Amino acid sequence: MADLASLASLATEIAREAGALAKRRRTEGVAIAATKSSLADIVTEADREVEELIRSRIAAERPDDGFLGEESGTTAAGEITWVVDPIDGTVNYAAGIPQYAVSIGIVAGDTPSPDWETIVGVVFNPVTGELFSATQGGGAWLGDAKLHVARVGEAGALLATGFGYNPATHDGDIAAAARALPLARDLRRMGAASLDLAFVAAGRLDGYFERGLQPWDHAAGALLVREAGGIVRFAPADEFGRTLTVASGPELADSLWKAALG
Ligand code: IPD
Ligand code: CA
Repeated sequence: MADLASLASLATEIAREAGALAKRRRTEGVAIAATKSSLADIVTEADREVEELIRSRIAAERPDDGFLGEESGTTAAGEITWVVDPIDGTVNYAAGIPQYAVSIGIVAGDTPSPDWETIVGVVFNPVTGELFSATQGGGAWLGDAKLHVARVGEAGALLATGFGYNPATHDGDIAAAARALPLARDLRRMGAASLDLAFVAAGRLDGYFERGLQPWDHAAGALLVREAGGIVRFAPADEFGRTLTVASGPELADSLWKAALG
């Protein structure tokens, strides 16, 4: 296996290239290519093109590594696997809301599982130019600034969540939000899970919870949070097959976990 610093440097280089392509395509206009799990769950031509760029760059540089991407699935297992969301926040992207990111996680092993060990994580928003990165044991960074999760202030926690695309899941998600609100000074729904996690790592948010994330949504972001001193927990799937992800600093972890889990 290559050392973590060179893997992180390659992931960063690829994320920047991929982000530049996504941003360029956005200015040219966005075409919805298909819907996925529901009418609200869309994929654009850019999602596919950006994933293809990332996949081919990895294949050229590191042909023996595994790959798991949101749009094209898995290829060849390896000692490490690149877990990629080419555009996290596709609904924002399509609507022209500048809250989307390229998310690249590198995990040890080849089989997706909740106890996967992410060793490198990069989340890049090409609109703001912010690049969040972490290596296992090497801390989490926004550019050159080291990140630390926040301490919750007297007014309560600034939280974020997300709602599933399947309307049948909305009641449960709203109930979880209602249970979390007593902990909160306010609750955001910004629309890109990788950035929500990056913002917890950066101390901009105190906590984040959501059901239904996929490995490519959280692989990079979860490492950012842990390396910034935070805690990320996953609960087994609910009746809709949706795993719960909860991330925060240590002091909020138990109360937010209980509220989100119900
Ligand atoms: C979605 C975003 C959204 C979250 C969804 C994800 P996508 O990813 O991260 O914030 O609520 O669960 O699927 O589909 O835009 O890559
Ligand atoms: Ca996506």
